[in-house]
Amino acid sequence: MKKVITVLPGDGIGKEVTKGAVEVLEAVAQRYGHSFRFEYGLIGGTAIDKTGSPLPEETLEMCRRNDAVLLGAVGGPKWDKNPSYLKPETGLLRIRKELNLYANLRPISLHSSLAEASPLKPNIIEGVDLLIVRELTGGLYFGKPSERVSQGGKEAVVDTLFYKREEMKAILQLAFKLARKRRGKVTSVDKANVLASSKLWREVAVEVSGQYPDVELEHMLVDNAAMQLVRCPRQFDVLVTENMFGDILSDEASVLTGSLGMLPSASLSESSLHLYEPIHGSAPDIAGKNCANPLAAILSAASMLRLSFGMDEEAEAVEKAVQEVLDLGYRTGDIATEGSRIMGTKEMVHEVKAAILDNEAIAHIMSAYA
Ligand code: IPM
Ligand code: MG
Repeated sequence: MKKVITVLPGDGIGKEVTKGAVEVLEAVAQRYGHSFRFEYGLIGGTAIDKTGSPLPEETLEMCRRNDAVLLGAVGGPKWDKNPSYLKPETGLLRIRKELNLYANLRPISLHSSLAEASPLKPNIIEGVDLLIVRELTGGLYFGKPSERVSQGGKEAVVDTLFYKREEMKAILQLAFKLARKRRGKVTSVDKANVLASSKLWREVAVEVSGQYPDVELEHMLVDNAAMQLVRCPRQFDVLVTENMFGDILSDEASVLTGSLGMLPSASLSESSLHLYEPIHGSAPDIAGKNCANPLAAILSAASMLRLSFGMDEEAEAVEKAVQEVLDLGYRTGDIATEGSRIMGTKEMVHEVKAAILDNEAIAHIMSAYA
């Protein structure tokens, strides 16, 4: 298969981790006889510095004409004081909106060899395997007005939480579909005891669940969900929620398994164009030091292989390679525990590539004897 992938490294460690993911995709292409071409575009602070915009039109055009998007991370102290239209994060929000990436999937499962890196006790995280389905193009992130106002001469501020029923329906439907392929349970998270938006959300969840009688629906208030995630994370299968709650809960959930540096995400649209990015941020403090964990970006590339290109076997090969290097005790600093072998970003990428290509060599030998 021939595919053209838009790579948007962004800022900070985004550059290093996407480089690693690209190398791993090249190894996959080599092993399976595919041809991947990479086109590089600007986003975030780097784009602001070079073009004056956090998301240049050219980047959007590039995304639209190619087959999938791999994004690193955006943001950094250099741009923190900028007005909001000149903030790196504005580029990220705009690309989500422009490409209609309405659903963000954040799978969280435990790599058994990483259990010790988790801040929670082993008996609590044992067997955790949940999928956060976060609405990504609505809610407080995009509602207007969102600005400082003056009320009777006093400073005040307004943000707007706006959702269309259709938007809620689309994300809830996706959650039910995904739950069908997993353990058949949806936890719909809201704040229906307070918010009008959550009351409608709950109504829509019940309505959608009518089409999926084989899937169990449970409602949970967001404050309770935050607590249940650390108390008993095993109870969750698919957790679906609106944009802001999803942002907060997914960071919380991400440390269950040891490190933010391990977690991939996929942002899906209703068309065939999807975007893949690690959950972690640009980590400016460690950028350029060859110590960032590239595994989240590599696992995001694996999701791309599966969800955008239908390459299930290739995706599994990448995931298996990651598992193997972890089983060998190789770690970047963020997931290091006693007795592990600490290595840099490049070395980790090298090991994952080697695992992919070595497994090919082994498969060849095996087939010669078959
Ligand atoms: C995320 C990030 C972004 C968000 C920021 C960088 C705008 O935290 O992808 O979770 O809030 O959505
Ligand atoms: Mg976040």
